[in-house]
Amino acid sequence: MMSTSPAGEDKHWAADRVTILEALGVLDPEDKPTALVDTVKAADVARLTQEDWQRERDKMVATCNQCHSGIFARLQLQLGDEMEKNADHLVAEAIRIVARLCKDGEPCPSRRTMQRDLTEIRELADTTRRSRGAASRAGPN
Ligand code: HEC
Repeated sequence: MMSTSPAGEDKHWAADRVTILEALGVLDPEDKPTALVDTVKAADVARLTQEDWQRERDKMVATCNQCHSGIFARLQLQLGDEMEKNADHLVAEAIRIVARLCKDGEPCPSRRTMQRDLTEIRELADTTRRSRGAASRAGPN
């Protein structure tokens, strides 16, 4: 069975992603892509289409498959998806809480501050993922 983009399939995850992309300024409040979307694509911060996602996933599985079974590779990548989904949910919840406070008249972070914080969180998550990947690729020794 082909795996599908979990963020596309899972409505809650998709909603979390939209919240995060809005906070990043990639989608306007009507969920239409803004000019920033090209920057994000170039930076590879978000996989925006199912096709893009599938192409990346197939490439990744083919790489893992050089040493691991396809089933193992797909399962491991799925576990990674779960982690990403949970992280996205926490970040989206944080954004919603901040948005609610702003509406209630609390001091509001500027869009620039939000973008900077979200970018840092994303980079931290990517670094963690990469170092985990490197650790598993280093193999036994
Ligand atoms: C060049 C060969 C190679 C490639 C490519 C490779 N691995 Fe590994 N991987 C290994 C070896 C060797 C081990 C150590 C196996 C062991 O400890 O028994 C390992 C271990 C792992 C482990 C830990 C397994 C455990 O039981 O602790 C995970 C998870 C893993 N790899 C995932 C991946 C994923 C996901 C990919 C693709 C992104 C990948 N690997 C690509 C060789 C490779």
